[in-house]
Amino acid sequence: MLRFTLNDGTPVGLRPIVPADRDRLLHGFEALSDESRRFRFLGSLSALHEDQLRYLTEVDHRDHVAWGALSLEDPEAPGFGIARFIRLSEHPHLAEFSLTVIDTAQGHGLGGLLLATLYVLAPTVGIDTLRGVVARDNDRMTTWMHRLGAVVVADDPGELVFDLPVHTDLDELPASSVSFRTLVEQVRQQFASGADQPQNET
Ligand SMILES: CC(C)(COP(=O)(O)OP(=O)(O)OC[C@H]1O[C@@H](n2cnc3c(N)ncnc32)[C@H](O)[C@@H]1OP(=O)(O)O)[C@@H](O)C(=O)NCCC(=O)NCCS
Repeated sequence: MLRFTLNDGTPVGLRPIVPADRDRLLHGFEALSDESRRFRFLGSLSALHEDQLRYLTEVDHRDHVAWGALSLEDPEAPGFGIARFIRLSEHPHLAEFSLTVIDTAQGHGLGGLLLATLYVLAPTVGIDTLRGVVARDNDRMTTWMHRLGAVVVADDPGELVFDLPVHTDLDELPASSVSFRTLVEQVRQQFASGADQPQNET
């Protein structure tokens, strides 16, 4: 498990999603505001059905990579957030990503850590571009994507599609993404120290 401290001092652990996370994911979904649900699922979604829960938790960690964030103070509590990318079969080097942080945990750096984790994992499975489909009125996300150097590849009435190039040489990141670079370096350090290995799980 990767371990971090959020900007408000909360210790969090990040680890791959497993099928047993079904209930945790369901409770996390229930904890989301209507707006966060709409931003994440790009439409009105009031409940997650069994087949969706299976799809979101039974992942192969190669074509569908998903990691979740837990409280280290209360590991049984609903998850704080989740991030995933899914390879596009027609463009195997490209994967569509999504991020979700429960409303009460937003704004403290967790979204950045989750995206940094996807960013570090992507090249390990042959992904060089992360694609984000973002609601047009999701100002936080669109501003952030521009800051990270993502390019708008489709501009539809309701949503913008961003392609975020995944650089293994972090010097290629734009200067405006300096805080993201720091997060990517932190995630890399944790992986390099073996923090994600099963023997380090608690
Ligand atoms: C988008 C989301 C994942 C971000 O998670 P978060 O934990 O709130 O984000 P962070 O605190 O890590 O901040 C990420 C970036 O947004 C900026 N940010 C955070 N809160 C902000 C706010 N209220 N207003 C403007 N910018 C903000 C941060 O400064 C940071 O950018 P920086 O690293 O360049 O400084 C989260 O808000 C969320 O789940 N929203 C609902 C679902 C959604 O929109 N998903 C994205 C669709 S794929």
